[in-house]
Amino acid sequence: MALTSLSRFSEITTRIFENKKLLRSVSPVTRWLHLSPEFSMKANILFIHRWRLYRHIGRATRQSVPRLKQFSTCSSLLQTPAAHVPGTLQQELDPFKLAEPDLINLYSDIKKELSTQSNHLGCISSYYFDGHGKAFRPVMVVLMARALNYHIFESSRLLETQHRMAIIAEMIHTASLVHDDVIDTSDTRRGKSSVNVLWGQKKAILAGDFILAQAARILAQLDNEDVVHLLAQVLIDLVQGEFMQMSSSDDETERFNLYLKKTFKKTASLTAYTCKAAAVLGGANDTLQEMAFQYGRNVGIAFQLIDDYLDFMASQSELGKPTAADLRLGLATAPVLYASQRFPELKPMIARRFCKLGDVEKAYEAVHKSDGLAHTKRLARNHCNEALSHISILTDSVEKRALMSVIEKVLERSK
Ligand code: FPP
Ligand code: MG
Repeated sequence: MALTSLSRFSEITTRIFENKKLLRSVSPVTRWLHLSPEFSMKANILFIHRWRLYRHIGRATRQSVPRLKQFSTCSSLLQTPAAHVPGTLQQELDPFKLAEPDLINLYSDIKKELSTQSNHLGCISSYYFDGHGKAFRPVMVVLMARALNYHIFESSRLLETQHRMAIIAEMIHTASLVHDDVIDTSDTRRGKSSVNVLWGQKKAILAGDFILAQAARILAQLDNEDVVHLLAQVLIDLVQGEFMQMSSSDDETERFNLYLKKTFKKTASLTAYTCKAAAVLGGANDTLQEMAFQYGRNVGIAFQLIDDYLDFMASQSELGKPTAADLRLGLATAPVLYASQRFPELKPMIARRFCKLGDVEKAYEAVHKSDGLAHTKRLARNHCNEALSHISILTDSVEKRALMSVIEKVLERSK
């Protein structure tokens, strides 16, 4: 074994063993080696074996995905600067297909976590875990985890803790939707009656709390204090974001900044911190943790911008909720804020939260006459390009390509 390779193994091994949480996931023999005075040599030898095994497993798993068959040519939507995407990475993978084996039991796993002695509570809190969600957040977590594991260990094997993080992400997201439908007095969610309509507001709030509490229990089982802090911040942001949305600024120039801040807290915080948590759980260094955070942050902001765009563009049947729902709720999102630059008469409407008869219709029309929608899409595209540039530091892998494809899907989506 060449000396340089050995020192590389030693460096990687030291990083692994420095991470106490990861240490728990390795075998008792390996743990013993860590405690032994002869640690460094024995660990190196053992690690070489494990590394070879992981590489082998990694290759076998990767070969099970027909690499070239699933690639489709990247559309021009992203208009990605060539510098971000080296030639070999032009082709992309279907991220949902790639993450499917990891998430095949996502909803049944969550339902198990939610099963309680009270059938009624279990039934209400499981209601949205019906397999009809996009599972967008878990897909991001799983792909980020695998792409990072491949970058660090040359094996994309998913750690169980990272898999649990994907579950937690979906549970927090769904709990927030149950509460959100109460706040927005929504009758429907994903084309079916909302929890609050079927069981009333009180039970909806309790069901949301219950999902959150069960997610907190799974989080505690990960036994990683850093990750607990990250996820606590997500919960703080979600509540603050929702609160920010309820208030509006009288200062016109402040409005857009507030909107972006709210967008991060309400939507992007969850994707940013859960991607970062996947990195922490995988033993990634600070640079890689920040990369994961920035990817999740930018994709999350773009996702919300496109949501706000679709509120004006998609049909009710596509969205599974009424169009211009944000205006009806009194919310001024990016398309209206941009449109108000061309049509200043929108400004007093924004200030009074479109509460006067005819405001919603007038604002809807003004947005379509303006370039607000094009500007919104452009801003989303900029965030996508930023996400792309952050993951460019990762070693090429199918998972990295799938992360790139996630970005494309965010921009292309129609519901
Ligand atoms: C959907 O927004 C809602 C969110 C992304 C977050 C809602 C957060 C809370 C209600 C705070 C409480 C948080 C927890 C964790 C219980 P939307 O109304 O824009 O989207 P929609 O059209 O899908 O309803
Ligand atoms: Mg809502």
